[in-house]
Amino acid sequence: MKDKINALSEEIEQFKAENKDELESFRLKYLSKKGEINNLFAEFKNVPKEERKELGKLINDLKNKAQEKFDSMKASLEEAEETQSEYHDLTLPVNQEEIGARHPISIVRNEINDVFARIGFTISEGPEIENDWHNFTALNFPEEHPARDMQDTFFVEQNPDLALRTHTSSVQVRVMENNKPPIRIVAPGRVFRNEAISARAHCIFHQIEGLYVDKNVSFVDLKQTLYYFAREFFGEQTKIRFRPSYFPFTEPSAEMDVSCNICGGKGCNVCKYTGWLEIMGCGMVDPNVLDNCGIDSSEYSGFAFGMGIERIAMLKYQINDLRLYFENDVRFLKQFKSAL
Ligand code: DAH
Repeated sequence: MKDKINALSEEIEQFKAENKDELESFRLKYLSKKGEINNLFAEFKNVPKEERKELGKLINDLKNKAQEKFDSMKASLEEAEETQSEYHDLTLPVNQEEIGARHPISIVRNEINDVFARIGFTISEGPEIENDWHNFTALNFPEEHPARDMQDTFFVEQNPDLALRTHTSSVQVRVMENNKPPIRIVAPGRVFRNEAISARAHCIFHQIEGLYVDKNVSFVDLKQTLYYFAREFFGEQTKIRFRPSYFPFTEPSAEMDVSCNICGGKGCNVCKYTGWLEIMGCGMVDPNVLDNCGIDSSEYSGFAFGMGIERIAMLKYQINDLRLYFENDVRFLKQFKSAL
C-alpha cells in the first residue's frame, strides 16, 4: 500500500492541467467519491492495526496534497482566463477616428467668399492690430467724432495709436492705398469691440467687407451686386430692400435687409414679425475716403458693404445664442456639414 501511495503522490505532483477539462479529470481521478484516494480509505479497513497509524497519516497527507494541487491549478487557470479576456478581439474592425467638422463661422465665411468669387471678387486681408489712420481717420471718422464711440475697442496702452480693429473696413483703406482701380475685393476677418458678452453681443466677432472701385460705379451696381449675393446665399426667391443709414465712410449709406427666409416674409419670431432681416451696411464710398487713399475721386467711384458673419450664420442655421460659437462644444460644432 505504501508503494501505491508513493506512486499516486508522484503522479499528483507531475500532473498538469492545461484546461478546465483536464482539471475536472484530475478531480474525478483523485478527489471524487470513486477516486483513487477514497479507494485507499476503503482499503485502509483491511490494514493491520500496527500499520494503521503510519498509513493513515500518509493517506491523509496525500489527500491534502491532491486538494492543494487542485486548488492551485484551478487558480492559475482562472487567472490565465482573466488576462486573456483583457486582449481585444483582433478580428473586430478598427476604431474609426472621428473626423472634425468645420466651424459654422468658417463654413459661412467660405460660402460668402465663394459667392463673390464667382463674380470676380478676390480676397484681401489686413492686420487685426490696426492704427488709428486705417481703422478711423482715413475712413472719415474725425478725431472726437461721436461715431467713434459706437466702436469702442481695446487700445494698446504703450502706443495709443494702435487698437484692435473694430471693423474690416480698415482693409478697404489698405487695399486702396496699395492698388489702382479697378478694385474688386472681399475682406473676411476677425474684429473687436468693447462689448459685454451676451447672447447677442461679443467682444470678438467676424465680418466680411466688400469694396468695388472703378470708373462710373453707381448705386445701381451696388444694388445688383448685393441682390445677386442675397439670391445666391439665401435662395432664388429672396427679396431685398434698402433703408437709409449713416456711416462716415459712405455717402449715401444704407442698411440692406433680405426677406425672411424662414417665414418667407409673412412674419415670424426670427424676423420679429417684420418679414425682413437686416444683414449688412453698405453705401457709395465717400469721395473723401477715395482721396485719403490716393484714388482720384473725380475720376473714380465705388461702393462698399460690410456684414457680420455670426449674424448671417445665426440666420442660416437658426442659432439663437452667439456664445455657442466660442464655447467649442463638439456637440454643437459637429452639426454643421459643408462642401466648402
Ligand atoms: N464697418 C461697418 C460696421 O462695422 C459696416 C459697414 C457699413 C461696412 C457700410 C461698409 C459699409 O463697407 O459700406 O458697422
